Amino acid sequence: MKRETSPHPERILDCRGLHCAWPGGALALEDVDLTMRRGERVALIGPNGAGKSTLLRALIGLVPFEGEIHVEGLALRKSTLRDIRLRIGLVFQHPDDQLFSPSIAEDVAFGPAAMGLSADEVTERVREALDTTGLGEMAARNPLELSYGERRRAAIATVLSMRPVLLAMDEPSSNLDPAHRRRLIRWLQEQTDLTLLLATHDLDMAAETCTRAVLLSRRIVADGPIRDILADRALLERHDLEPPLGMQGMRYYET
Ligand SMILES: Nc1ncnc2c1ncn2[C@@H]1O[C@H](COP(=O)(O)OP(=O)(O)O)[C@@H](O)[C@H]1O
Ligand SMILES: [Mg+2]
Repeated sequence: MKRETSPHPERILDCRGLHCAWPGGALALEDVDLTMRRGERVALIGPNGAGKSTLLRALIGLVPFEGEIHVEGLALRKSTLRDIRLRIGLVFQHPDDQLFSPSIAEDVAFGPAAMGLSADEVTERVREALDTTGLGEMAARNPLELSYGERRRAAIATVLSMRPVLLAMDEPSSNLDPAHRRRLIRWLQEQTDLTLLLATHDLDMAAETCTRAVLLSRRIVADGPIRDILADRALLERHDLEPPLGMQGMRYYET
């Protein structure tokens, strides 16, 4: 019988020996070990094709994998998929993959309603998620009418309304203009209760929102305080990354 519970249930996330191969393709992830504790803020960095999106998708059972994934001590299996997806909120890279209802409020209500919560509880969660993302005034709007930045926030709201234990975001700053990107960074800084896994090659944003960095290049090649990893120019360059432009005088999340 396979082990269903993690030996470290206090860990929000516990990946052991993860291998992922796309059908007919090369190995996208090789022997990945990654653990996260409640309240940690981890930037998953790496060049294009490093496996960042594959890893996030594997966490919610969208990609076949070998190895073990535990979320709050619960092993990811077919039988636990629903429970795992209640715990991990994944914001996809493209908001249009997450929005499909005629109004933002309906999109944000979809998850909580599918959980079988009461109408009052669903309403409360929608209000909370829209307030948190600054979309309170836009509840009735059709996502198709919104700007890209607003759609990104709406996609985040659809995940927050599930009150996930882990918020995972795939390239959240991609396609945002500087003002919307700055707004997203401020929002992430304000959400001090989050447990955050942020896949990005925007290293400046990573530094401003996360305390730990995991450098992925099919395998995990570095894992540690984000200041140390971003200061290691040789390490970054070996993996086709550049030290953040704002490295001089950069405001890190902790400070
Ligand atoms: N749907 C897919 N089908 C086949 N191969 C894929 C698919 N998505 C990603 N890959 C491959 O997996 C590897 C990792 O990609 P990805 O996880 O998207 O990297 P990243 O998000 O770090 O840019 C790449 O070699 C990519 O070509
Ligand atoms: Mg990606």
